[in-house]
Amino acid sequence: MRWLYQLFSRFLERHLPSGLFQRALIILVAPVVLLQTIMTGVILDRHWDNVTKVLARSLSREIGLLIDIYEKSDKTEADLAAIENMANRNLALGLQIQRGAALPPPLPAPLFSAVDNRLTLYLTRYTGRPFWIDSTHQPGAVDIRVEVENGLIFRLLTSNDRAYAAGTDALLFWMLFSSLILLGIAGIFLRKQISPILDLARAAKRFGTGRDTGNFRPRGATEVRQAGQAFIDMRDRIARQVEQRTIMLAGVSHDLRTVLTRFRLGLAVLGNGAKVQPLKEDVAEMQRMLEAYIAFVRGDGGEKPEPVLLTEAIGTAVRTAQRSGATVTMGVPPELRARVKPNAFGRLLANLIGNAVRHAAKVNVMAQTAGDHVVITIDDDGPGIPPSKRADAFRPFVRLDDARNLDETGTGLGLAIALDIARAHGGDLRLEDSPKGGLRARVQIPV
Ligand SMILES: Nc1ncnc2c1ncn2[C@@H]1O[C@H](COP(=O)(O)OP(=O)(O)OP(=O)(O)O)[C@@H](O)[C@H]1O
Ligand SMILES: [Mg+2]
Repeated sequence: MRWLYQLFSRFLERHLPSGLFQRALIILVAPVVLLQTIMTGVILDRHWDNVTKVLARSLSREIGLLIDIYEKSDKTEADLAAIENMANRNLALGLQIQRGAALPPPLPAPLFSAVDNRLTLYLTRYTGRPFWIDSTHQPGAVDIRVEVENGLIFRLLTSNDRAYAAGTDALLFWMLFSSLILLGIAGIFLRKQISPILDLARAAKRFGTGRDTGNFRPRGATEVRQAGQAFIDMRDRIARQVEQRTIMLAGVSHDLRTVLTRFRLGLAVLGNGAKVQPLKEDVAEMQRMLEAYIAFVRGDGGEKPEPVLLTEAIGTAVRTAQRSGATVTMGVPPELRARVKPNAFGRLLANLIGNAVRHAAKVNVMAQTAGDHVVITIDDDGPGIPPSKRADAFRPFVRLDDARNLDETGTGLGLAIALDIARAHGGDLRLEDSPKGGLRARVQIPV
């Protein structure tokens, strides 16, 4: 039982359209259409069958009656004319009595032979004579010929509606028409139900890429409103947290800076002695670390994304690195644009290129659009980072134990900040193997 259900749900998952609107419409409409089709089929079929039976029987009986009248008459021309007249005026049977005629050879059975079957049944029963039927070749009429005597034919060209039920197409049309109208109304209502969900998705996406959520307000059905409200609460909570972090940091950095300044002043008074110099360097380093820490905690500092010519931003970062004497090459299309926070994005590039320059001799920066993303890769030919240590490298204050850079100054925040910035743009940052032999940092940001 369980596997049957799983099979069924897998089938649905695979073949149902992915949109909620289409799905809801199908869930709503499919049973109705199915039920209506079955009901229409059954009812129309039965109705049609019953009416046709009644009509065929009464038509056959009328023909039988005319034959009886003929049998009881003197069979003169005047009698025949009287019978014809009676049949056509009172019963509208379209009767022609033909002398010296014979029945044509039987026709092949028509495709839908229900009419013929009924007529055959009742004509046999009520006339008891050979006959010939053509219900298909005369438009709007049935051609019935009965051989009353040898050489005497009753030919009836009777309109269709005397022989079988017509007019079911009008019913069908109305059913179809009203179904379509109902479907249209259901579609409009469904769309109205789904648009708040789309609003929520858009707002969440904007928030995720660090943009303003606009004038998003929860609306729609209760459940959707609840989800919207939950999103707003979450957004506010996150904003509060960031704010708290910033305020705390501002306090701490202010206090520490004050102490550091006092320290520096004290050192300045001591002059430039050999013992003082290392202390001064330590203070300078402390100040630098403090600034890096501030930059990390401040994050993007509430900066708003704006359209930026990435070609230029990358160019600036690369030139800055080149000025410090490194070999940095660049391969970027001339008109590469994206919505980014300019300062944060600049810091991201500076951190990654700075890392590469610090660890390698040759660095190459490339960028290109791939689908709805911009992908920026920074390759170097340095020692790289083994895959097992890449996750660690992202952690704040982690500097990998690399003999080469033990004496270098750094706080271990560069990658953490870069990752933070990439994520704040709704993108990602990954470390991979570079074809140049060293590390490849791969930044992906939505356009
Ligand atoms: N291109 C690279 N090649 C080899 N190792 C790297 C590279 N980039 C980073 N690393 C390693 O990852 C560690 C973390 O880098 P991260 O940028 O976070 O800190 P940092 O460069 O040491 O300090 P900061 O950037 O804050 O001055 C570095 O200490 C270094 O060992
Ligand atoms: Mg770094």
